[in-house]
Amino acid sequence: MRGRYKILVYGCQMNIADAERMEGQLQAAGYARTEETADADIILINTCCVRETAEDKAYGKIGEIKKIKEQNPRLIFGIAGCMAQKEGDNLMRRAPHIDFVLGTGKVQELARIVAEIEAERAPVVDVTLADKSIAEHLPVARGGKFSAWVPIMYGCNNYCTYCIVPYVRGRERSRAPEEVVAEVRRAVAEGYTEVTLLGQNVNSYGRDHKVADFADLLRMVDEVEGIRRVRFMTSHPKDISDKLIDTIKNGEHICEHIHLPVQYGSNRILKAMNRVYTVEKYRERAQRVREALPNASLTTDLIVGFPGETDEDFAEMLAFLREMRYDSAYTFIYSKRSGTPAATMADQVADEIKHARLNALMEEQNTISREINEALTGTEVEVMVEGASKNDPTVWSGRTRTNKIVLFPHGTEQEGDFIQVRIMQPQTWVLKGEIVH
Ligand code: SAH
Ligand code: SF4
Ligand code: F3S
Repeated sequence: MRGRYKILVYGCQMNIADAERMEGQLQAAGYARTEETADADIILINTCCVRETAEDKAYGKIGEIKKIKEQNPRLIFGIAGCMAQKEGDNLMRRAPHIDFVLGTGKVQELARIVAEIEAERAPVVDVTLADKSIAEHLPVARGGKFSAWVPIMYGCNNYCTYCIVPYVRGRERSRAPEEVVAEVRRAVAEGYTEVTLLGQNVNSYGRDHKVADFADLLRMVDEVEGIRRVRFMTSHPKDISDKLIDTIKNGEHICEHIHLPVQYGSNRILKAMNRVYTVEKYRERAQRVREALPNASLTTDLIVGFPGETDEDFAEMLAFLREMRYDSAYTFIYSKRSGTPAATMADQVADEIKHARLNALMEEQNTISREINEALTGTEVEVMVEGASKNDPTVWSGRTRTNKIVLFPHGTEQEGDFIQVRIMQPQTWVLKGEIVH
């Protein structure tokens, strides 16, 4: 063993997937994982910058690691991910105890950079954004035992006016379908039964290489021998096609859960956000999904406090939420990201109004989630077992195909098993049930 590493990950599933590829490289180079920051020879933070709170968390950790570095000057401390991409060498100026800054397009360089720092002890900053190339065949150290994250494309071309992601992740690049399918096959051979295909906007998969579109890819992955569940995220409402909806409907293992972030419920704000669709277009697409997949769960992301948002806009938002009846929603307060068009828009909304609107939105959504879940009382669902719940080892949890968390008293089932559960006590966030024998 050459030493121990610890990787801390913030942000979205894409960041988790990247971190698994960083970890794979470190393991291949002879490093072993440790949970203790104090024991580590390498500490790496994979950062997010989608909202200010995400950056604050990373800066807090960077501060904490200063003390560890003072006690262990041989420690190699690196920052990767979206905040690394955004800040580059500013990070080192602000925190000179950082040894390297690795951009989002440079995941594959980690092992080389660590070796270089071990040899030369000089700081490294590499944040050149990837052009069209995609690093394939990296070793992957997966975090889950039965569920695997599989990126199918990188970057984003959409430039929603509030969002930093296109600036820190670069232009859309799709992996070749045979690479994706090969990765899924390898994962299945290693015992994984569920994959989640990842991209900022999976619906635009393949627009660059034109070999296969997302629906084609989903079908190929669905047909991999041994796969039990295929998930995907995120779908952009502007291009969720009939072909894709039919593919989900006709697929055997494609899970009936569609995360279709609407972001807002009034045309004025959607336009200012550059989301490209209208409320009417979104409604039409969502209806098409519901007709084709009546048992599917539909989830969303919502942003309150976008510049210029009025009480009338917000009333429309609430009405739209009531109409759509999402199974669940991630609700965010708009966070100003410098460099994005929205950051300099007039009429930024005051903090207390943002918070009040967020609370109103969450309250409304919680009622809806609870009602939808209550309607499941007495039904039987297929659950993929995940393991003991955090608070009580006799209560285990798992997920439905629709991505709802189910809690049930533990019997003889093992992690990764597929079982039938009867829903007895649905709640807002979880469904409590009993195993059907
Ligand atoms: N590509 C995905 C996810 C992007 S980031 C998509 O388009 O849906 C995840 C979520 O963060 C977004 O859906 C959006 O709701 C939220 N988000 C992005 N930028 C934000 C900002 N500046 N302030 C608050 N929330 C933001
Ligand atoms: Fe951001 Fe919009 Fe791209 Fe999603 S689609 S990552 S919200 S720019
Ligand atoms: Fe955050 Fe980057 Fe993901 S900004 S949400 S980690 S793409």
